[in-house]
Amino acid sequence: MKIIRDIETLKLAIALHKKNGRTIGFVPTMGYLHEGHLALAKAANEENDVVVMSIFVNPTQFGPTEDFESYPRDEMRDKSFAEEHGIDILFLPSVEMMYPDRLTATIHAKRRVSVLDGALREGHFDGVLTVLAKFFHLVQPDSAYFGQKDAQQVAVVQGFVADYFFPLVIRIIPTVREEDGLAKSSRNVYLTEQERKEASTIHEALLKARNEVVELRDQAGILANIRTIINRNRSHKKIVYLDMYQYPSFEAIEDWEKPIVIAICVQYSKARLIDNEIIGGV
Ligand code: PAF
Repeated sequence: MKIIRDIETLKLAIALHKKNGRTIGFVPTMGYLHEGHLALAKAANEENDVVVMSIFVNPTQFGPTEDFESYPRDEMRDKSFAEEHGIDILFLPSVEMMYPDRLTATIHAKRRVSVLDGALREGHFDGVLTVLAKFFHLVQPDSAYFGQKDAQQVAVVQGFVADYFFPLVIRIIPTVREEDGLAKSSRNVYLTEQERKEASTIHEALLKARNEVVELRDQAGILANIRTIINRNRSHKKIVYLDMYQYPSFEAIEDWEKPIVIAICVQYSKARLIDNEIIGGV
């Protein structure tokens, strides 16, 4: 595995692979790798000749009161995980390298962002698209890999790539879960023992709701049932959002036959966890 920290070296390595006709799979991450990321790496490995993974905690997608400074980081551990999982190039740029100057033009996400994290985390998806546009130009991947756990991110990125004809395929990989159903996340380390035990009810409630979408078609009732299941738990928590929309538009449900997403965010004492279920073929 090649570790590259500067853009010029990355450009040379990519140019060489392109010249040799190799396909490139790209796995963008913010590090603190877990099995969710490794599932992306595995798919990228199976489908491409070369796999590039970036680890970059992107400051432009964090709000001023969010956890940019304290976001978990462990470069040593990430390096050995990446090496063990068949990454060919691990790109570890600095903030100065990715953002050498103030931007002349900015990217602003307009649709699919008026609800959930798009509404609550102002500028979050602008930052995600900004850094991805930079990475896509540098890495020139044939395919880029994202986890379904971030359903709104997936929808926004897919829209952006289609709008601007980025010459790559966005591959969506199903959420990887702990044995009890809790979605893997870098933020799970923030859970207390009690919270960790109870956090599996998020998935349990969403699975129940999946059946109710097919049988009940009653939005208020379905959401109320999810709340009841999650609120049965003892640990202190707040449901930051819980709603359902048409997918991938993230607009109000008008057609129950078309794909629907149920998305939830729960704030525990320190961990802010998200999860979702998509019902109907996507
Ligand atoms: O999902 C993430 O970890 C980030 O939003 C991404 C896609 C790596 C962009 O910084």
